[in-house]
Amino acid sequence: MGIQRVGVVGFGQMGSGIAQICAQAGFDTLVREVDQSLVDKGFQRVDGSLARLIRSGRLSEDDAKAARGRLRGTISLGAFEDRDLIIEAIVEEIGPKKKLFAELDTICPPATIFCSNTSSLTIVEMAAATRRPDRFAGMHFFNPPVIMKLVEIVKAITTSDETVATLREFVGKLGKTGVVCKDTTGFIVNRLMVPYLLGAIRMLELGVATKEDIDNAVKLGLGYPMGPFELIDYTGVDINYHVANVFFDEFKEPYMAPPPLLRRMFLAGQLGTKTGKGFYEYDDQGKRKS
Ligand SMILES: NC(=O)c1ccc[n+]([C@@H]2O[C@H](COP(=O)([O-])OP(=O)(O)OC[C@H]3O[C@@H](n4cnc5c(N)ncnc54)[C@H](O)[C@@H]3O)[C@@H](O)[C@H]2O)c1
Repeated sequence: MGIQRVGVVGFGQMGSGIAQICAQAGFDTLVREVDQSLVDKGFQRVDGSLARLIRSGRLSEDDAKAARGRLRGTISLGAFEDRDLIIEAIVEEIGPKKKLFAELDTICPPATIFCSNTSSLTIVEMAAATRRPDRFAGMHFFNPPVIMKLVEIVKAITTSDETVATLREFVGKLGKTGVVCKDTTGFIVNRLMVPYLLGAIRMLELGVATKEDIDNAVKLGLGYPMGPFELIDYTGVDINYHVANVFFDEFKEPYMAPPPLLRRMFLAGQLGTKTGKGFYEYDDQGKRKS
């Protein structure tokens, strides 16, 4: 019968985009937040995004209205009892995620598939908190989910082939391209990107080139939209430092360890655009000054 009713847990930055694309693709979609004000905030985000799609001619008013009609919010987890698929997009901490899935396991029917949108945690650790580790996988969307075309489908050592096949089909119906990968830190995209970013910092530490020249070389030579230092400042020095530590813990490869400069910038509170200084300096609007 396949997936018809989707439950999204967490209506934040990622959850709102994921819920929106599920509703746009025709799925009956229910989103859960911890309180009503956050449900309302999530709907504001979705409404803003739908309005932008209409303005740019990528979505008709009728289709936007129909999508909005398929999307409902709740603060009750019990309302997820009729869902075929759950996509979790709450805080990036293993404790709350395990607790949530253990609770959902008692609410949802055995056939319901559980997915986590985690960027860095291990899928099988969450799967083991449920009695359905074969119907548990990672479904990693990219930010913003409404625009980005890729979804990494993460197969834990317990995930069944049938679950992966169902998720591939579901991701296709969302209009995205699904790629399947193993449950190892970074999946595919971050496994390639994190060592590259850390390598750029080491290159700067060694004095191979200035940060401006490394950024320009990557943009003009590789065709990337942002240079590594622009990207680290944008995503946050703290996030990149945390991610490097997660990678090093998993693989123990020296090239995945946080370089000394990254650690010092983190300790100094030079976190990038959000603090006004990272590799570059920024004004109050986050516009680059230097
Ligand atoms: N931001 C990104 O670029 C990005 C990209 C890919 C994956 N992710 C992953 O997506 C997940 C969510 O990230 P985000 O950036 O959307 O975070 P966010 O802080 O914007 O949203 C998380 C939301 O979850 C809610 N929440 C917390 N516990 C809850 C619960 N038990 N039930 C319902 N709601 C709950 C919070 O109130 C918050 O609104 C994380 O696992 C993150 O690693 C993030």
